[in-house]
Amino acid sequence: MDRDITFLGHVIRVDSGVVEVEVTDSLPSSAPIINGRLYKIGQIGTFVKMPIGNINIYGIVSSVSNSPSRDEENHVKQLVGSRFLSVQLIGEKIGDDDFEKGIGTYPTINDEVHIVVEKDLFDIYGQKKSGSIEIGKHSSSENLGVNVDLHNLILRHSAVVGSTGSGKSNTIVSVLKPILNDYDGSRVVLVDPHGEYASAFPDAKVFKINDLANPLVIPFWLMNFDELAFFLVGANPEDDQRVEYRMFRELVQNYKKENCELKSGQVNKNFVTADSPIPFNIRKLWHEMNWWLNASFSESVKDKQTKTTAKVKCIGNFEDLIGSSFEPYAMGQEAPYKSKHMDYYSYEKKLLARLKDSRYDFLFNPRDYKDETSLKDLHNLLNGWIGGKEKLTILDLSGVPFEILDITVGLITRFIYDSMFWGRDEEYTGKKRPLLLAYEEAHVYLNKNENNSYSKRAVEKIFKEGRKFGVGAMIISQRPSEISETILAQVGTFLALRLTNSSDQSIVKSSAPDNLNSLMDLLSSLRIGEAVVVGESIKIPSRIRIKLNNPRPSSEDPKLVEAWSKDHTENEDNYKKVVTNIREQKFKGK
Ligand SMILES: Nc1ncnc2c1ncn2[C@@H]1O[C@H](COP(=O)(O)OP(=O)(O)OP(=O)(O)O)[C@@H](O)[C@H]1O
Ligand SMILES: [Mg+2]
Repeated sequence: MDRDITFLGHVIRVDSGVVEVEVTDSLPSSAPIINGRLYKIGQIGTFVKMPIGNINIYGIVSSVSNSPSRDEENHVKQLVGSRFLSVQLIGEKIGDDDFEKGIGTYPTINDEVHIVVEKDLFDIYGQKKSGSIEIGKHSSSENLGVNVDLHNLILRHSAVVGSTGSGKSNTIVSVLKPILNDYDGSRVVLVDPHGEYASAFPDAKVFKINDLANPLVIPFWLMNFDELAFFLVGANPEDDQRVEYRMFRELVQNYKKENCELKSGQVNKNFVTADSPIPFNIRKLWHEMNWWLNASFSESVKDKQTKTTAKVKCIGNFEDLIGSSFEPYAMGQEAPYKSKHMDYYSYEKKLLARLKDSRYDFLFNPRDYKDETSLKDLHNLLNGWIGGKEKLTILDLSGVPFEILDITVGLITRFIYDSMFWGRDEEYTGKKRPLLLAYEEAHVYLNKNENNSYSKRAVEKIFKEGRKFGVGAMIISQRPSEISETILAQVGTFLALRLTNSSDQSIVKSSAPDNLNSLMDLLSSLRIGEAVVVGESIKIPSRIRIKLNNPRPSSEDPKLVEAWSKDHTENEDNYKKVVTNIREQKFKGK
């Protein structure tokens, strides 16, 4: 007599997608035990069922009250319990068919309403389909795995959002693990600004700045000219009219044109511009600027001050950033004459300062990718990041100075996207082997208020067009309200953990593809590791519990109480190393 035990009440109002249910007085308890399991009546976010012939209509409880919603006169608090439930209809199951989202047949007044027991939940969620992964268990049943469709999760893009400490990083592990375990050909690149994921994925390939085995390098020559000019000498495209800007562009272009014989193949010189990702030696370029500024000549007229009329004493060494030396120019009207090529005056100083700053070495001194004579070329870089047998690559950006995090993420994204775009028909990449790019701490560099963000532009492109070339993206953030609206609008699946800030809640509510406000209202009251999952990759918007993974991402806090309880030794020499680190911008550790 399951039917009687599960009987909950009757429909008393039907209002498009929402029905109101009056709970029967004869319910033995507000928490009946059915088949050995305790069910709590009137829990927001739980399912109810309305059987009509061979059709079962399912809905989610969205509000509970002790008076009918429109019965203004009787709106007196009676404290008799939850008598009226507002239920948002979500879908139906006809006979033995699978559960379908959307409603074809509506309930009518007096139709019976039943508690959904575990068996119904299994009916709704169905068997695990191939091409899906389990990301957690249903909050109402620890036996019921909740699966998401992998294709839609990846290629329709996704977002994992939640306040700090709500369990986002752990969720990422729960999502990636089944992908990496079950799909041998999967490919994921995780952009990890705090370097917290390597501990959770011992098998992943991790690239990290200054790491001895796997250093992360991003050759500066991947930048287009405007980016290069901005990051090397602080110039903007508006400086286009300035002579030094135009000369600099020409110089870069010439250096690139000279280097068209590359390890990955020859490039037609006619197609090369100052924007082409072609290696050249930036130190040599500095050396040349420095040469023209400091040279002395046997001629006084600018046009005749050339390489052949220069009075060179020692050529210096560009690799070590040592400029050439020249015969000192005479003070009067006689040779040697002072150089009249002073256009690069400010650029040369700025460039030298940049090249000496070791924080930028991963860009401007990129080891094996330094210039055209280097051992490696971009195909090696790509192979390292997205080729090989490891399915997950973690790009640990914890050593990237904050002010260039944006361009760094921008370059990584653009390079990977370009490789998928131009490789879209190759056997080993593009559409034939899609790729997921996951961005942790996305609000930091994908901020909607940042107009000149390199990373935002590149990531937005993936959200808009990546699917066609096999690139999916996932953003992870504690401040979804700060993220670019273009990105949020293209998110197909939201995994929303506890969100306490009201502007964050409302942005998730309004961006979520399913209009299920009742579940979204739960966002502030979710427990750690509990999430609401809505969108294209899940059949029914669901509240799920995510298991705590081991090994975990490392996001350790300092042990404050322990540290403050200790007596620390005082020494005159304390802080010497710290100061040297600040000066050299190099972290030497212990
Ligand atoms: N599913 C879970 N079950 C139980 N505890 C959890 C779960 N997920 C996370 N936790 C606990 O919460 C802590 C914070 O989790 P996590 O680092 O994943 O949060 P976060 O949202 O990524 O935080 P942040 O915004 O600081 O990155 C973990 O160290 C763990 O102790
Ligand atoms: Mg985290």
